[in-house]
Amino acid sequence: MEPAKLHYWILGWFSMALCCWCTSDTFTQSDSHPHSWKKLYLAHHWPVTVCKMNANDCHDPPQYWTIHGLWPDKGEDCNRTWHFNVTEIKDLMSDMRHYWPDVLHSSLNRTQFWKHEWDKHGTCAATLEVLNSQKKYFGKALELYQHIDLSGCLLKARIKPRSSYYKMPVIKEALTRFYGVTPKIQCLPPEEGEEAQTIGQIEFCFTKELQLINCTALKGESNPMQVHLKLGTQELSICNDTLPTYYPSEVQGHK
Ligand SMILES: *[C@@H]1O[C@H](CO)[C@@H](O)[C@H](O)[C@H]1NC(C)=O
Ligand SMILES: *[C@@H]1O[C@H](CO)[C@@H](O)[C@H](O)[C@H]1NC(C)=O
Ligand SMILES: *[C@@H]1O[C@H](CO)[C@@H](O)[C@H](O)[C@H]1NC(C)=O
Ligand SMILES: *[C@@H]1O[C@H](CO)[C@@H](O)[C@H](O)[C@H]1NC(C)=O
Ligand SMILES: *[C@@H]1O[C@H](CO)[C@@H](O)[C@H](O)[C@H]1NC(C)=O
Repeated sequence: MEPAKLHYWILGWFSMALCCWCTSDTFTQSDSHPHSWKKLYLAHHWPVTVCKMNANDCHDPPQYWTIHGLWPDKGEDCNRTWHFNVTEIKDLMSDMRHYWPDVLHSSLNRTQFWKHEWDKHGTCAATLEVLNSQKKYFGKALELYQHIDLSGCLLKARIKPRSSYYKMPVIKEALTRFYGVTPKIQCLPPEEGEEAQTIGQIEFCFTKELQLINCTALKGESNPMQVHLKLGTQELSICNDTLPTYYPSEVQGHK
């Protein structure tokens, strides 16, 4: 099998296996929940771009895509009494540090970022039985991230950080070919006097059965919640297909 096919096959198998863990019971419950949601976004961000947005406390950002979060398409802060407790995810700590680092505050106590993600998104995702504890929520996000293997996929498609620009459709087509679904790709718009946008975030969409789906909204579906990452004056937005795209390897030095 070609690597791409094999990969897709593994993903398919993985999704099917996950699917069987959810009972229809869960759906009935969550559908009557005030914060019912339909889709999960697994957001990856490119640490160099995140640092570019706010370089105050950023040191040697990783040169691989890291996790930003696992977000239901609806709801925030769904249970304010369910407090983040880092002890509950102590078994996941080495993967958390490696794959889900707080890129912006690399020198501070990094549990703050995880607490933020749990409070805002995890407590909403927890209506699903496979995500209904902190260990399950963070553990499943890590598992999905590792199976997606975005960094590996881009390298196989020979898309890597470089000083010359990419065409956005080239990146998009490589991802769609590899995964069979279209992710949501976000960029920093060109700064004053610049011609290129900078790729910053790639989100994959999953059903409640944790199967990959296109991130494009389906007919009759309300617009998914817009999750904006705003730091300082810069904000990520959907990449423009016609603009040259920069995939930076260093925070500074692109002029
Ligand atoms: C909120 O979380 C607490 C602590 O885990 C739990 O006891 C309670 O049932 C949750 N409330 C809702 C509405 O899910
Ligand atoms: C945090 O989780 C640990 C392990 O589950 C538990 O023993 C501890 O009591 C919890 N701490 C708080 C403040 O809830
Ligand atoms: C981070 O702070 C929490 C309490 O705020 C503490 O329990 C934890 O041990 C600290 N972690 C690190 C790595 O300093
Ligand atoms: C995603 O969209 C593409 C076309 O844009 C389509 O060919 C494909 O079947 C869709 N995949 C899923 C899983 O819906
Ligand atoms: C994309 O960029 C081009 C060139 O700057 C601009 O004309 C166009 O309006 C942009 N498209 C969107 C959807 O923003």
